[in-house]
Amino acid sequence: MPERRQLLYISRLSPHTTPACVAEIVRNARQRNQAQGIGSLLVFDGLRFCQYLEGEAKAVESLAERIRKDPRHTGFTLLHQGTSNGPSLLGGRRFIYALCYDDSLDSVEQASGPQALDLLTGMLKTFDLDPGPRGA
Ligand SMILES: Cc1cc2nc3c(=O)[nH]c(=O)nc-3n(C[C@H](O)[C@H](O)[C@H](O)COP(=O)(O)O)c2cc1C
Repeated sequence: MPERRQLLYISRLSPHTTPACVAEIVRNARQRNQAQGIGSLLVFDGLRFCQYLEGEAKAVESLAERIRKDPRHTGFTLLHQGTSNGPSLLGGRRFIYALCYDDSLDSVEQASGPQALDLLTGMLKTFDLDPGPRGA
């Protein structure tokens, strides 16, 4: 199994924008990540974004750099960066968008390293998942 870069960050919706921008982010990200072979889990709780990215190292790094500079959010904080040879953490899906209605992201924000990633992926089944387009 090829080595895969894993990256996890948390950030806040910019006060200069509204949650309406999330639909646009998700629509574009789904298409672009697919083309780059990047897998992603994006969680939004109305205030915070938490995103996990996995894929080829250069592609993940350059995407994370673009995202970091995006004015639609602030306080980009890297929680984990590592590599894995194991199976994808996304259970065969390429792009997962999840809405979170409680304070679940508090524990992820307070953790760091692989523990933060474990917490986020462990929450996957509790999230209200967007079914996504067929085959996503
Ligand atoms: C919270 C958040 C998550 C994002 N996730 C992605 C993503 O997974 N893939 C992506 O291509 N763009 C994502 N974007 C958008 C990028 O920041 C950027 O606008 C997009 O990649 C286009 O970059 P470019 O205009 O430099 O080509 C995200 C933006 C935000 C605010």
